Amino acid sequence: MILALSPMDGVSDFPFRAINKKYGKMDIIFTEFANVEGICRSSSARILDHFDFNEAQRPFVAQIYGKTPNFFKQAAVLLCELGVNGVDINMGCPAPTVANHGSGAAIIKNPELAREIIKAVQDGIREWSEGLKLEDCPDISDLMVAGVAEKKKKFSLVDADRRKLPTVSVKTRIGYHNEEIETWLPHLIEMRLAAISLHGRTLKQGYSGKADWSVIGRAAAMLKKEDPSVVFLGNGDVLDYEEAEQKVEEYGVDGVLIGRSSFGKPFVFLPKQERERFFKEQNIFKVALEHAKLYEQTYPETEGYRFLPMRKHLAWYTKGIEQAAVIRSELVRSNSSLEVEQILKSHSLID
Ligand SMILES: Cc1cc2nc3c(=O)[nH]c(=O)nc-3n(C[C@H](O)[C@H](O)[C@H](O)COP(=O)(O)O)c2cc1C
Repeated sequence: MILALSPMDGVSDFPFRAINKKYGKMDIIFTEFANVEGICRSSSARILDHFDFNEAQRPFVAQIYGKTPNFFKQAAVLLCELGVNGVDINMGCPAPTVANHGSGAAIIKNPELAREIIKAVQDGIREWSEGLKLEDCPDISDLMVAGVAEKKKKFSLVDADRRKLPTVSVKTRIGYHNEEIETWLPHLIEMRLAAISLHGRTLKQGYSGKADWSVIGRAAAMLKKEDPSVVFLGNGDVLDYEEAEQKVEEYGVDGVLIGRSSFGKPFVFLPKQERERFFKEQNIFKVALEHAKLYEQTYPETEGYRFLPMRKHLAWYTKGIEQAAVIRSELVRSNSSLEVEQILKSHSLID
């Protein structure tokens, strides 16, 4: 069974992924998504923060979204240069800021564009393997080229091997307004992807209702018949390792992506026995503090607003404990790991 950390915009940044990988030991990590138009047009290299990773986070899959095939191609070259293990294309985001512009899950309605985008990514990777350089990509700025070099230095990333190419995969939903897997999936199968991840909701559903695993099961059967070489991952509402195992057994998927249930709980990826060992050996609030410290180290200009994104994680770590509301109300106002440490100590949650 393959267990993966699902891509989550605004959540699965470098520190979150590092903590989850260290304690959850999942097989694959996806980044939050980054926009290819932004990669090719942005006047700042900040967008590259989405792809921060080090060797410990491998196998590491970077997710991109957008609607311009040519920009996908150049973003794929950039990701090759960074040395990621996989490039995942988002065809599942329902957010109006994404889907109303023809990207994310809106691509389900435009299979021709889906094919063009996948081909563009595959072409970018192939041309890079044949010697194409990032600086030769017409829409990649010098700033971005320098940014990639800086990231490689910062995270001690070795120069990518042009013979070991990143895989190409797609993450999508079961349909747009309604479930339409029988007509949508064949377009993806045709493109000979390495992997497909399927979230069992439509665009229209957003995150409401329940993920429909029976549709995921039908998709698995279809894929195994048409192209058994494609790794197929199901997604939606899976709580932990045991539930993932049950989905594999019942629906014939190769593995599962876990998203929201990992919030403040890196241990959900561990089988029961290891989870019990985790609880014996670790104090989850020590893990929370480690997370906050790593956050500061990764984004050193944390004073003021830069610490804000860390606060929601701190709140998640308090879920289910006594006095959670009081402790949470203090943690979500903290501005540094030092303050976090003081709060946790004052409630005797750490020594
Ligand atoms: C805050 C948040 C951000 C998300 N961002 C992304 C994203 O960047 N790319 C993506 O493919 N899916 C994204 N998703 C969807 C998740 O990856 C996943 O498909 C969904 O949450 C269902 O899985 P779960 O029930 O295990 O959370 C996001 C979900 C949440 C809650």
